[in-house]
Amino acid sequence: MKTDLKRRADTRSRAPKSDNFAKYMTTSWADSAPVEPVFIPEKSFTEVRREKLSKMFLGDRLIIEAGDLKTRSNDVDYRFRPNSAFAYFTGLGVDLEPGAVLVFNPIVIKQKGIPPHNTHTCTLYIDSMKDRSSTEFYESSTHGEFWIGKRLSLEQFEQLTGITTKDKTALKSDLKNKIFWPHKVRVISDSKNDDRLLETASEMRLVKDKYEIEQMRKAIIATKTGFERVIRNLTRAKNSARGERIVEGEFYANALESGNSVGYETIAAAGEHATTLHWIQNTGAVRENELLLLDAGVEVDSLYTADITRTMPISGEFNKWQRDIYDLVLLAADEAFKVATPGKKFRDVHDRAMEVIAEGLSRLGILGVDPKVALREDQQQHRRWMCHGTSHHLGIDVHDCAHAREQNYRDAELKPGMIFTIEPGLYFKNDDLLVPAQYRGIGVRIEDDILITDDGAENLSVSIPRSPEHLTSWMKQLMNEEGNA
Ligand code: GLY
Ligand code: MN
Ligand code: MN
Repeated sequence: MKTDLKRRADTRSRAPKSDNFAKYMTTSWADSAPVEPVFIPEKSFTEVRREKLSKMFLGDRLIIEAGDLKTRSNDVDYRFRPNSAFAYFTGLGVDLEPGAVLVFNPIVIKQKGIPPHNTHTCTLYIDSMKDRSSTEFYESSTHGEFWIGKRLSLEQFEQLTGITTKDKTALKSDLKNKIFWPHKVRVISDSKNDDRLLETASEMRLVKDKYEIEQMRKAIIATKTGFERVIRNLTRAKNSARGERIVEGEFYANALESGNSVGYETIAAAGEHATTLHWIQNTGAVRENELLLLDAGVEVDSLYTADITRTMPISGEFNKWQRDIYDLVLLAADEAFKVATPGKKFRDVHDRAMEVIAEGLSRLGILGVDPKVALREDQQQHRRWMCHGTSHHLGIDVHDCAHAREQNYRDAELKPGMIFTIEPGLYFKNDDLLVPAQYRGIGVRIEDDILITDDGAENLSVSIPRSPEHLTSWMKQLMNEEGNA
């Protein structure tokens, strides 16, 4: 029954089955050139990462899977995105490569004159695309060249990654035929994960190498272009009943053009929608006198993503009440940034932002208690209006390094090479009886991407205007440009 249902759901290949047809379809094709890679990884960095991982798991076999295509519905899949750990250790990005597996096989090296020592050999197994030599060429909607187009060859994968590459059909027997029984088999995959391997792979990404920092800069530049494109189309958004979708769409169009995609679902939240932290429906109107909170990031081909929020007055000018809140959030961000320096703890950045927010809410007459009281662990009244954290690590994942242990994440000292967000916000819902009427319906977040340097920090996204004066003059200039008439 189940098999029959599954078969029914696969509506794609209905090709004729006869031998005659198979022969007809698999012959009379001219040789064609190999496909050009759309993305070239930086293999010198990934080799260092694999060596580092190998040393931490000597004797163990490590299996890191790219994962398979994910079903959207029935036999329709999402565009493929490899598992982040797979991307980190192979350097492969974009949609490379469904079904691929990276194996660290433990070996002992015996050389004259030195004691035997453990290491690993790495092999990349690729689920090859089926070419014209078999009926899968036109029958397989997941692997057939007729369906998915030419993919990179095994030789190309080997050349791109610097890792010995084999067809995946060899994987099973390679895992059986081993000389040294591994101490432990540890896996990272869509369905099951070894805790220690996942945690280690996550923690290795806390400090970014030079290549990663360069990729983050690219992602941020592409994100700035996206914000500019949105602002140029604000009049169009204002004239549509679903203006937020225009905002999302313009940002997305830029992301597809200048990067791989968006790094997460865009939050295009106008007016009161900005007080819903993860407003991703984006179905609302964009009204003249309200604010537009746009939280969006371009993911570049290497899969590194920016994560930026700007809250923009749709008319080009803040009103007094909007400005009160904007200034307070900006102050919290700037004060938190001053704390972001090597030797300080990750959580110190958040704590400083919370001090500023509590004091500011008190000044504006919103916080009903003394800020010193509110800041006590068992009180925290100010968090009613900012219940998310101030920062998270950022990289291949928007919430990067999420499996790192607390002592290496929130409780850890900041180190040069760490990249994280600073994103304080304040969100006053329309029906919040504790908030003075003039502030209700206002939501503001300012989010920047920060790199810890040897002696401080660099705001990587500072070129996307954030002070009210700079922001509004940037907006007015863009709104006057062509395409917005
Ligand atoms: N865009 C999700 C976040 O800021 O964490
Ligand atoms: Mn964020
Ligand atoms: Mn964000």
